[in-house]
Amino acid sequence: MAKNIYPVFDRIYDRKVKEEILRQSAKVIWFTGLSSSGKTTLAANLEKELFFRRFFCHVLDGDNIRMGINNNLGFSEEDRMENIRRIAEASKLLINTGMITICSFISPTNAIRSLARKIIGEDDFIEIFLNPPLEVCENRDTKGLYKKARAGLIQDFTGISSPFEAPENPDLEIDTSTISIKDSVDLIFNKIIDRITL
Ligand code: ADX
Repeated sequence: MAKNIYPVFDRIYDRKVKEEILRQSAKVIWFTGLSSSGKTTLAANLEKELFFRRFFCHVLDGDNIRMGINNNLGFSEEDRMENIRRIAEASKLLINTGMITICSFISPTNAIRSLARKIIGEDDFIEIFLNPPLEVCENRDTKGLYKKARAGLIQDFTGISSPFEAPENPDLEIDTSTISIKDSVDLIFNKIIDRITL
């Protein structure tokens, strides 16, 4: 833990001023769910919808973040925890700029999501659980990773050889195997509109 550190920059212009300029209330929209559950697709479509309605937002997504800032982390429980800790800290920086931040990460356990919620703050954290059945995710297998995991070529693969715990109390739960992308985005938008409006 750092010692003798006195952060000051977050006090110069506070978040409220930035939110007023952007005419929005910054929040983190946090998608959680298995690989191929639809997180990246819905994050991208939600971003499109929010831009169309003149909200300013930014997506942070698993594969992108793991190519860059978190490229030294793997998929052990400890590394996933560190992955999410850094992402939550980065999200907090973004919401302090007034940005609506859309996060798309498996974030597989209650402990991992609790850490994100704690760092970001209860009021700013909106949790959306995508819960199509595992079989559907495995059939979609958008990146061919389930096949590799079943063949033993990938270790600690979420849903196969590493656990996924369903969130206990998400703000919204969507079974993306039974509803269209557009209807999912509408559900999410209706859920968040009051909280992102100043
Ligand atoms: S998390 O568990 O730490 O939240 P994150 O969302 O960042 O995971 O990364 C998940 C992405 O990494 C998946 O979409 C997949 O493309 C890739 N991946 C590679 N190996 C694994 C694995 N063992 N388990 C899950 N995802 C993996």
